Amino acid sequence: MRLVILPNSDDVAEFACDLFAQQLTNKPKSVLGLATGSSPTTLYQKMISRQKAGDLSFSQATSFNLDEYVGLSGDHPQSYRHFMNEQLFNHVDIDLARTFVPNGVADNPNDECKRYEELIALAGGIDLQLLGIGINGHIGFNEPLSSLSSRTRVKTLTKSTIEANSRFFGDDERQPTDSMTMGIGTILDARQVVLLATGAHKAQAIKGCVEGPVSASCPASALQLHEHAIVVVDEAAAAELT
Ligand code: F6R
Repeated sequence: MRLVILPNSDDVAEFACDLFAQQLTNKPKSVLGLATGSSPTTLYQKMISRQKAGDLSFSQATSFNLDEYVGLSGDHPQSYRHFMNEQLFNHVDIDLARTFVPNGVADNPNDECKRYEELIALAGGIDLQLLGIGINGHIGFNEPLSSLSSRTRVKTLTKSTIEANSRFFGDDERQPTDSMTMGIGTILDARQVVLLATGAHKAQAIKGCVEGPVSASCPASALQLHEHAIVVVDEAAAAELT
C-alpha cells in the first residue's frame, strides 16, 4: 500500500484525476470501478472539465459502481445510479450502456449480486477501483466484520452508516437499510485501487486503514494486502497517523 498525503482536498482530487487520466490514456478500454458519496465529487468535476478540454476520454471505457441501495430504482434521486448520472455520466463521453450499477429494484437482489460479479468478470475485471472510506472504516458498504474475501452481496447497513447518510434523505423519506455492494474480495481483485479521504472526521478510519492490523474490524485495512493500492489523503485526514 502506498500512502500519499497532500495539503488539501483539491490536491487529493487532482492527484486522483491524474491517475484516472493516465489509466485511460494507457488503456482507453479501461474498466473503471467508481464510487458515490462526497469523497469523489471534486474528482468527478475535474474529470468533466478535462474531458471537455479534450484531455481525457471515456468513450471506450466501462464502469462498475461499488454499490446501490436495495429498494431504490435508478430514477430515485437518492439512488446511486441517479447520483452517477448527475455527477459524472451525463456530462462526459462515456457510453451509458457500458456504465453498471447494481439494480436496486431487481426481483431477486441475491441473483442481481451474482449477475453483477459475472458482468465484472465478463468485462475482464476492474483496472482501477476508486474508493471512499466510512468513518467506521467501511469500503463500499462492507461494514466492520464483513469477510475480507466477500463478493458482491446484499448487506444490511449499520446504524452509524444510516446516520451518516441520513443527511441525503428528507424527513418524510424512507431511508433504505440494505444495500448491494461489491465485496472486499471483489475490490481486492481490481488491478489498482485508489482510496480518497479528506477531513478530520476521517482521521481515525485512515489510521485503522493504514496503520491498524489487517482485520475485518476495519474493512479498509484489507487494502494493506493489495500490491497496487494507493491511499490519498489531505493533512486533516492524516492527522492521527504516527
Ligand atoms: C460509496 C461507498 C461508501 C463511501 C463512504 C464514504 O459508493 O461505497 O463506502 O465511499 O461511505 O462516503 P463519503 O465520501 O460521503 O464520506
